[in-house]
Amino acid sequence: MNTKTIQFIRRGEIVSLANVPPTRTLLEVLREDLACTGTKEGCGEGDCGACTVVLGKLLHNRVVYEPANACILLIGQLQGRELISVDDLARDGLLHPVQQAMVDQHASQCGFCTPGFVMSLFALHHAGVKPDRQMIVEQLAGNLCRCTGYRPIIAAAQQSCEGSALDHWAASAAQTARSLQMLDDGVDVLIGNKERFLAIPASAASLCDLAAKQPDATVVSGATDVGLWITKQLRDISKIIHIGNVAELHQVADRMSTISIGAAATYAEAEAALVSLAPDLSTVLKRIGSKQVRASGTIGGNIANGSPIGDM
Ligand code: FES
Ligand code: FES
Repeated sequence: MNTKTIQFIRRGEIVSLANVPPTRTLLEVLREDLACTGTKEGCGEGDCGACTVVLGKLLHNRVVYEPANACILLIGQLQGRELISVDDLARDGLLHPVQQAMVDQHASQCGFCTPGFVMSLFALHHAGVKPDRQMIVEQLAGNLCRCTGYRPIIAAAQQSCEGSALDHWAASAAQTARSLQMLDDGVDVLIGNKERFLAIPASAASLCDLAAKQPDATVVSGATDVGLWITKQLRDISKIIHIGNVAELHQVADRMSTISIGAAATYAEAEAALVSLAPDLSTVLKRIGSKQVRASGTIGGNIANGSPIGDM
């Protein structure tokens, strides 16, 4: 495998990180390494949404944004993505329209949950839809607020989605798409050494090769389960293979009445195929985690780990 740094886009620049411990979470990197303390830690297990950030990726040559829980997101999962945290939103002394809507609608009291709500609403702001109340409620299902109450937050969501997104990210979408294409260079990433590493194979062939040589490594995709082994059980996982960048494993195919779901396909990616199989799964899937969890967690991971939380 080639050795290089983990690379992702933030604030329009490519960020490179080397020598990162394999179990370092994005929340630790943001708060402790980069001193970006706007993103908060609440539960540390993907439940409360206080740590919500937004990740950008290319889908059919367009940049799309999904919320993610930084507390259980391993830093390697950022490879080839765009990262937006709450500290990035205000520009030139002006609040982002989502932040301004939260102020206008009096949607914050203690404010601990607020950065997470802002980021979930940022993703909705960029979804290119005028959401109805149900869509907003579903978008916010992974963000808990115990002071303000949801009525003003929902009003802020409605205000911030009134028109199309015209912010800095919309204006630089073409450039971001080019940068994301550039990062998708087919090069494998390996940080560390033989005893302690984070590997991010870029193809199924590289993954097979690595897995054969390192059978005791922990395979991770969304880390919605493995992340808790780290943050709650304090397990020291020395060898991690992240399969999220193997494009073949994201494929969901529906052929001859057989649905095949790649091991790295997220709940969000597999949802349409599953619902076509059994419409009731639409309701079931809404109860598996939150938008944040369904954007990262995989059905393959649920089966491999037997997590009772995913319950697929
Ligand atoms: Fe609660 Fe991350 S801190 S979801
Ligand atoms: Fe305090 Fe939401 S404003 S938890």
